[in-house]
Amino acid sequence: MNRSDDAIREVGADELAAAGAAVRALLADGVASGASLGFLGPLDDGLARAWLSACVDEVAAGTRRVWLAYDAAGAVTGMVHLAHATKQNAPHRAEVQKLVVAATARGRGLGTRLMAALERGAREAGRWLLILDTDADSGAVDFYRDRGWGSVGVIPFFCLSPAGELQGTHVFWRDLRETADA
Ligand SMILES: CC(C)(COP(=O)(O)OP(=O)(O)OC[C@H]1O[C@@H](n2cnc3c(N)ncnc32)[C@H](O)[C@@H]1OP(=O)(O)O)[C@@H](O)C(=O)NCCC(=O)NCCS
Repeated sequence: MNRSDDAIREVGADELAAAGAAVRALLADGVASGASLGFLGPLDDGLARAWLSACVDEVAAGTRRVWLAYDAAGAVTGMVHLAHATKQNAPHRAEVQKLVVAATARGRGLGTRLMAALERGAREAGRWLLILDTDADSGAVDFYRDRGWGSVGVIPFFCLSPAGELQGTHVFWRDLRETADA
């Protein structure tokens, strides 16, 4: 399959709000595919709207950054979020959230490119310690491990899967001072 050449760019609050319907559809797509993204399936649109509205506020406040991928037709095909730690003692730390690639666009390098864009942006902003967690039984575990993320381990019974069953989460970390810019 061809590598993805979808355009990736960081979006501001206005662009995120304008892309709201597409972002909610992407989130629904991820939840429907069984991904652990903070929601039960099928995704409740009211909850998704409230979540997106909070994200827009946080992007405007500078505590959240969002990268979107767009295909040649302008459709949103992927996203990833970086939530800055806001505690006074953690100016160097941030959490990767909501990495999702549309089911039809997976396996063509887009997830890898979204993470590279996020890591470049985090490094430039001095947020060099990154953390994330993902469903312990999903393919995303190998995705992060193969890309050099350090494994902290598994917390059992951490959350409910989209289908409503208890599942563990695998916690990862990365020190961007130790990695070359992608
Ligand atoms: C994880 C995800 C973002 C990867 O996006 P992508 O565009 O397919 O990623 P790439 O094409 O760059 O890389 C694909 C790699 O991911 C691996 N992978 C990721 N999720 C996988 C899954 N569920 N099953 C099997 N392999 C998976 C593939 O094996 C492949 O590995 P390789 O390149 O070493 O062969 C995408 O699968 C996705 O959106 N999944 C649903 C949401 C999710 O689980 N997000 C993570 C939550 S933290």
